[in-house]
Amino acid sequence: MITIIGSGKVGGDAALFTALRRLDGEVLLLDVAEGLPQGEAMDINHMLAEQGIDVEVRGSNDPAEMAGSQVVVVVAGAGRKPGMTRMDLLKINSGIVRKIAQDVKRHAPDAVLVPVTNPLDPMVHTAYLESGFERSRVLGMGGMLDLSRFRQLICAATGRSRESVRALVIGEHGENMLPLARFASVSGIPLLDMLPAGEAARIVEETRGVAAKVIGLKGATVHAPGNAISAMIEAVVRDRNQVIPASTPLDGEYGQRDVSIGVPVVAGRGGVRKIIELDLDADERAVFERGADGVRAALAGI
Ligand code: 2OP
Repeated sequence: MITIIGSGKVGGDAALFTALRRLDGEVLLLDVAEGLPQGEAMDINHMLAEQGIDVEVRGSNDPAEMAGSQVVVVVAGAGRKPGMTRMDLLKINSGIVRKIAQDVKRHAPDAVLVPVTNPLDPMVHTAYLESGFERSRVLGMGGMLDLSRFRQLICAATGRSRESVRALVIGEHGENMLPLARFASVSGIPLLDMLPAGEAARIVEETRGVAAKVIGLKGATVHAPGNAISAMIEAVVRDRNQVIPASTPLDGEYGQRDVSIGVPVVAGRGGVRKIIELDLDADERAVFERGADGVRAALAGI
């Protein structure tokens, strides 16, 4: 079973994509709002029936029902509104995430925990501390979403197929996001050899700001985060040793401790198999460190 806690638009989309990818026979949507997860589950099941997909989506208000889950995703909490930064959500969401982490510890102690609630990196670390899970079983979804945006912008700039773009986005899921143009390629051809000078820097900047643009236009980001959650679940449950960006607690990697932030990891069943340490240049390292300092300051403020 895969459990998604928080049945708003992003949680609902995550359940939908998880079912479409057939990642488990059972998907549980949990929410404190009565009726919402149940209605969402019915709506998705009606769609799956037409498609002939035998995944059962259930809705519930009872955290005890997550027992036996292989993955628990935490999307619950207030979302980012126009004009807000992800950090603005810190106070509202830390209490919610703390309570949910206790529920997960109690009812699904063997699960892989995937926090998504913003501000992502401080919430990952809060969930890690509160759950008492070993760090390999806590991987937050932020970089995976930033990566989908970076890929889209690379496709637009190069005119090449979405399928051929490979890239990484690490660091804070926030103002100090680090899209790594130096490590991006189109079917192995370095991105920096394909674009005029300045164009890669423009794409990096746009990757950082494009969520705010979507939120300004339609009020929220929904499909890209919902899908990125299911992609992350897929990396775990299909056990493919996939290299993905994830926010996970660091213990000396990248010179950081007592903080969770986006890094490339090898993901598989059980969560993080290995953290990959890239040789960052001075500029990249400075952005990464600013992000880590910001996350640490946010954690101190909770
Ligand atoms: C996003 O990047 C708001 O963090 C959310 O879509």
